[in-house]
Amino acid sequence: GMPTEHRSHVVAIDQGTTSTRAMVFDRQGRVVAVDQQEHRQIFPRAGWVEHDPMEIWESTRLVVGGALGKANLNATHVAAVGITNQRETTVVWDRATGRPVHNAIVWQDTRTQAICDDLAGDGGIDRFKDVTGLPLATYFAGPKARWILDHVDGARARAEAGELLFGTMDTWLLWNLTGGASDEGIHVTDVTNASRTLLMDLRTLEWDAAAAEAVGVPLAMLPEIRSSSEVYGRCKPGILIDVPVAGILGDQQAATFGQGCLDVGNAKNTYGTGNFMLLNTGEDIVASQNGLLTTVCYRLGDAKPVYALEGSIAVTGSLVQWLRDNLGLIKDAAEVETLAASVDDNGGAYFVPAFSGLFAPHWRPDARGALVGLTRYVNKGHIARAALEATAFQTREVLEAMNADSGVPLTELRVDGGMVVNETLMQFQADLLGVDVVRPVVAETTALGAAYAAGLAVGYWASTDDIRENWGEDRRWTPQMDEAERERLYRSWRKAVQRTLDWVD
Ligand code: G3P
Repeated sequence: GMPTEHRSHVVAIDQGTTSTRAMVFDRQGRVVAVDQQEHRQIFPRAGWVEHDPMEIWESTRLVVGGALGKANLNATHVAAVGITNQRETTVVWDRATGRPVHNAIVWQDTRTQAICDDLAGDGGIDRFKDVTGLPLATYFAGPKARWILDHVDGARARAEAGELLFGTMDTWLLWNLTGGASDEGIHVTDVTNASRTLLMDLRTLEWDAAAAEAVGVPLAMLPEIRSSSEVYGRCKPGILIDVPVAGILGDQQAATFGQGCLDVGNAKNTYGTGNFMLLNTGEDIVASQNGLLTTVCYRLGDAKPVYALEGSIAVTGSLVQWLRDNLGLIKDAAEVETLAASVDDNGGAYFVPAFSGLFAPHWRPDARGALVGLTRYVNKGHIARAALEATAFQTREVLEAMNADSGVPLTELRVDGGMVVNETLMQFQADLLGVDVVRPVVAETTALGAAYAAGLAVGYWASTDDIRENWGEDRRWTPQMDEAERERLYRSWRKAVQRTLDWVD
């Protein structure tokens, strides 16, 4: 192939919860072209969420071609490709045919509740926390794989025989990009995705045989765990031919990397389908006392791994979609801001979107959503406002947990993701946290982070100093609300949260 110095761009594939995107970046970390495709959200019953892995692989091929076409480039111009992905979403497929044996079970899906309860037994939900950094929760991948093996005829025996493969979306795409069934696709995941399975030991960065045995996932079906930045393999004819796949990061870790949160104490909050706040804790594995997860932030090749504390919120942006799709309250996501701005405040209404139970810092699978504080006065403007405010209130809960765990209060919060274009929300967020909220120039930090990981592995970027240099501040929101009002609102929110607990028997 062409020497790296003539390869002028890096491609990132961002396989998210609602869509798949390909982005082409240049050396300054600027977005040159983007293409995007949504995929179907399959809801077979209440609490279940699935994706079709074949549909996602197909849209991946389309958006990569689409983005290159828009940039007027072809594979010979691409130095490397990086993958970033919705985490935890689980695929089990047949190595020989490349066909999934079941739809992917999405991270939001709660069908594994009985498996998790059973595993918790007398040991409680923190049974695997010391080894894996995670509480037992429906959120994580291991129990989802177990569910598929329990429910698809013959699947367990075939998995034990090495005929079926497990993967999160990174692994599924890498395997297909590098040849799939016809040409021995590479079966690998990275440390960040592996850290979301309940099966990986945070210290050794290897699968923990005891956890895998207990959860019921045969080691024979698990991918090899590698760093987040190295050449895993090369793409085969049909898509990005011969281009090295050289970076993999779970989307929230990718955003942390892309935001330049490279030093201990740096934190970012991404406003997507859900919200995910990550705090870089460096080489230290910090056990949370306040309902946060301990996770791998990134590992660059042979360098020491960097860890993070994470506050995961299941439903933020997807509540806006729900107002659009399930209630028809708005026509498009942007309209929520206009509607919310039609009123001065929430009118006393609080919306707790516990659609997948409550994640951090509560970890209450028995919670279900509630809209409380209603009077005859409340109108749809107030409901839109309450829905937006829910994102900010949930973020405050996570920030308090972060401050308590780290002992060092955050002084500002870097933000990214789809909802950060929303001025009303960002101002309210700063008001409610009492710290500055800062948005970078390149808001596409997730794809950018994966591009950096891939580009660093092949020498397209020289070092992480390039990431620091490329980061620039676009907009800053400063708290304006007085303390008494801030605390009054937050007290009401906490009462609303109490109303959602103990709902599922
Ligand atoms: O853990 C789930 C998270 O990775 C999903 O992110 O951006 O697809 O909502 P997103």
